[in-house]
Amino acid sequence: MSEIKNDYLWWQTGVVYQIYPRSFQDSNGDGIGDLQGILKRLDYLQWMGVDAVWISPIYPSPMADFGYDISDYTGIHPLFGSLDDFDRLIQEVHARKMKLILDLVPNHTSDQHPWFLESRSSRDNPKRDWYIWKNPRPDGGLPNNWLSVFGGSGWEWDEKTEQYYYHAFLKEQPDLNWRHPEVQQAMLNVMRFWLDRGVDGFRIDVMWHMIKDLQLRDNPVNPDYQNHMATYEQLLPVYSTDQPEVHEIVQKMRKLLDSYTDRMMIGEIYLPIHKLVTYYGIDGKGAHLPFNFQLISLPWEAKVIAAAIDQYEGALPANGWPNWVLGNHDQPRITSRVGIQQARVAAMLLLTLRGTPTIYYGDEIGMRDVPIPFQEVQDPQGLNMPDKNLSRDPARTPMQWDASLQAGFTEGKPWLRLDRAFQRTNVQLQKEDPYSMLLLYKRLIDLRHNEPSLTVGDYTPVCSDNQMLAFTRQAEGHPKFLIILNLSHRPCYFKPSTLTFTGTVVLATSPELEGSVVDESISLSGDEGVIIRITDTRL
Ligand code: NOJ
Repeated sequence: MSEIKNDYLWWQTGVVYQIYPRSFQDSNGDGIGDLQGILKRLDYLQWMGVDAVWISPIYPSPMADFGYDISDYTGIHPLFGSLDDFDRLIQEVHARKMKLILDLVPNHTSDQHPWFLESRSSRDNPKRDWYIWKNPRPDGGLPNNWLSVFGGSGWEWDEKTEQYYYHAFLKEQPDLNWRHPEVQQAMLNVMRFWLDRGVDGFRIDVMWHMIKDLQLRDNPVNPDYQNHMATYEQLLPVYSTDQPEVHEIVQKMRKLLDSYTDRMMIGEIYLPIHKLVTYYGIDGKGAHLPFNFQLISLPWEAKVIAAAIDQYEGALPANGWPNWVLGNHDQPRITSRVGIQQARVAAMLLLTLRGTPTIYYGDEIGMRDVPIPFQEVQDPQGLNMPDKNLSRDPARTPMQWDASLQAGFTEGKPWLRLDRAFQRTNVQLQKEDPYSMLLLYKRLIDLRHNEPSLTVGDYTPVCSDNQMLAFTRQAEGHPKFLIILNLSHRPCYFKPSTLTFTGTVVLATSPELEGSVVDESISLSGDEGVIIRITDTRL
C-alpha cells in the first residue's frame, strides 16, 4: 500500500467519520456530548480504521439550530469544552495518524453574532452591508418570494431600522452578504485561525447557498410540488442558490487552503450531478470533495443506483475525486430507510465504491431513527413544520456504546432520548460478535485499506438488473475485485452471458460465504453482498 499512499492524498485514500458532538460522548454528566468525550473515544475510531473525523459545529452558539447558528467563529462553546480541549483533540487525533475536519458555516451567522448585532443597529453602521438588507416592495410587501428552508418566508422585518433581512434558514440565522469584500476577508481569517491551529480541513455548510442573485429576483414556482414536501420546495431556488459567482468564493477558500500543506475542503451541496460537479471548480481549483448525496436521495433500487453511479463517474471532471455518503445529521438513517439487512449491503457498497466514503456516527452499529415523542421534539425544522414529519432528531440520538444505564453515553439525562433497543444494539456487544454490523464495517474498512484496487482502483460496471448490481475495481498491477450486491430481499442469480470468471469470496455480508470459490456464476440470498477476488482474468 505504501506506493498508493505516496501517490494519493490522505483524503483520497481515507475513510471519513462524522461525529455529531452533542450525541457522541458526554464526559461531564450534563447529558450533552463534548470534546473530552470525543477524546475518550478516539481509540475506538482508530480501532475501526477511520482516517479522518469531521465534527459538526462546536463554536459558541445560542443553539437555535444546534450549533449551525454561530455567534463566535473562533471559540468553543462551553458546553463542548474549551480551546485547550480542542488543541488537545487535534493533538490526539494526529497522534493516532488521523485527521480532523471542522464544520464551517460561512453562509450565515447567529443573529447574536457581534457582526449582526452591529449590522442591525442602524442603517449606516459600517457592517450594515455585511448582511442582506432590503426595503419592502413599494406596495409594502416582502422584498421577494424567497422561502426559508425551515418554513415560512426567508425575510424577517427589523422594527428598529425598518428593513427586511434575508435568512435562508431560521430568522436567528441571517445570511451574510458574500459579495462584500470585508465579509470574504473576515471568513478567510476565520479559516486561517483554525488552519494555524492545525485542522486538516473544513466541511463547508450549504456551499451552494453562499451567493444570491444580484437583483434578488423571485424564484419560480415548482410545478412538481406536493403537499407532503417541505414548504421550501414550493419554489425552485434558482435565484437564491447556486449562482455562478459562488465559484469565485470557493476558489478563494481553496487558494487559502493550498497555501498550507495537505489541507482539504468538503462542500455540502444538494444539487443534481451535472451541477454538483461544477463545484470541483475550473481546473480543479474548487472544493476537493463536493459531497455526493445520491445514495441518500435516490430510491434504493438496483437499476437506479447502478445508473446513478455510472452517471456520476461519467460526469466527474478530470482529476475530480469521487465521494459517497449514506447518511448525515440532516437525513433519516440508512437503517431506517432500507432496513437493517439492506443496511449491510449499503455498507458494502459505500466501502467498495471508488471515492472517499463518509460514515455517519452510529451507522456502523446499525443505529436506527428513534421515535421522539412530539413534546420532546427539539429540531427547529420539525417544530416549524409539525405536520410533515421532517424533524431531524430521530437521526441525532445518543451513540449507543454499551448496555449500561444511558448506553454509556452520559451519566446524566441525555439531551435527546436513546433508542430503547440500546441494550441489544451497542458497540460493546457488537465488538464481540463476528456477524455484527460493526465488524462488517471494520472488516470492509480493513480490506479497503489493504487492497489498492479497492482504495484507488478503477470502477467498471459489470451488469445490473432489477435486483442486483455488480462492478469491478482494479488498480494497475493489483488483483481485480468483483462486487455483487443484491439490493432486493429475494434471492438473485449472477451469471452474465457475456463474461466468464473465477474467483474467491473474500468478504460477504453473510460471512458463511467467505472462502468459497466462485466459477462463472453465483446465487445470492436476499439482502446479500459479496466481494470476490478474481483469480482468472477473463473478466
Ligand atoms: C446544513 C446543516 O447540515 C444543517 O444541519 C443546518 O441546519 C443547515 N445547514 C443550516 O446551517
